[in-house]
Amino acid sequence: MRTAVVWDALEAALAGGPRDVVDLGGGTGGFAVRLAESGHRVRVVDPSPDALAALARRAKEADLDVVGLQGDVTDLVDVVGAGSADVVLCHGVLEVVDPSLALARIGEVLRPQGLLSLVVGQRHAAVLARAMAGHFQQALGLLDDQSAVDGRTGRRFTAGELEALLAPAGFVPTAIHGVRVFADLVPAALVDIEPGAAAALVELERAVADRAEYLPLATQLHLLATRG
Ligand SMILES: C[S@@+](CC[C@H](N)C(=O)[O-])C[C@H]1O[C@@H](n2cnc3c(N)ncnc32)[C@H](O)[C@@H]1O
Repeated sequence: MRTAVVWDALEAALAGGPRDVVDLGGGTGGFAVRLAESGHRVRVVDPSPDALAALARRAKEADLDVVGLQGDVTDLVDVVGAGSADVVLCHGVLEVVDPSLALARIGEVLRPQGLLSLVVGQRHAAVLARAMAGHFQQALGLLDDQSAVDGRTGRRFTAGELEALLAPAGFVPTAIHGVRVFADLVPAALVDIEPGAAAALVELERAVADRAEYLPLATQLHLLATRG
């Protein structure tokens, strides 16, 4: 449910043959293993040895080759090589690193016309969530402060801020999707108990993912961009 919209867009964008994929901050390999299953050549770069060990177990269980490499945003180019990727995934990472540096490094490892898949937490949804929980001062603090950092989830972005970060790194956005527009607002018990509710919620999420009017409500933004 949490990844259906991202997966749909990625699968469509990668149709047409195996690609060299780098999953930066790919963690335990949720996306990496699925991409390898679809025939892509996947390398995961992550600073966490525990995450890489879990990735290795996951790939082994699925009988797939996924290369796990210890590294981070700063040494990405040394670890995977300049111009070595058709696609870079950067999901849930920009929040906890220097975003301009990360995008510059990603630009270096991508081949010309390569694809960036970016997933980040959105600030508008975080403001709404804080306000609905009664944390009005926190909501106010998050409203306009681009540098506001939550200890657990890191920095949040708006669509406009993301686009402003992408341009200097030479990326041209091609699509933007809202991820988890309703999923985090609905009580989990309702989705778990009501027969068919989970599938219906995924269908609803898919239906609104491309609608601009729902974008500010999405917990995360998924942006696809090509390197010019
Ligand atoms: C929220 S998890 C996201 C995992 C995965 N990309 C996903 O979407 O499920 C953030 C990941 O970023 C990694 N990470 C933290 N700091 C990083 C850095 N400086 N460079 C690259 N990855 C980093 C963490 O180890 C963790 O695996």
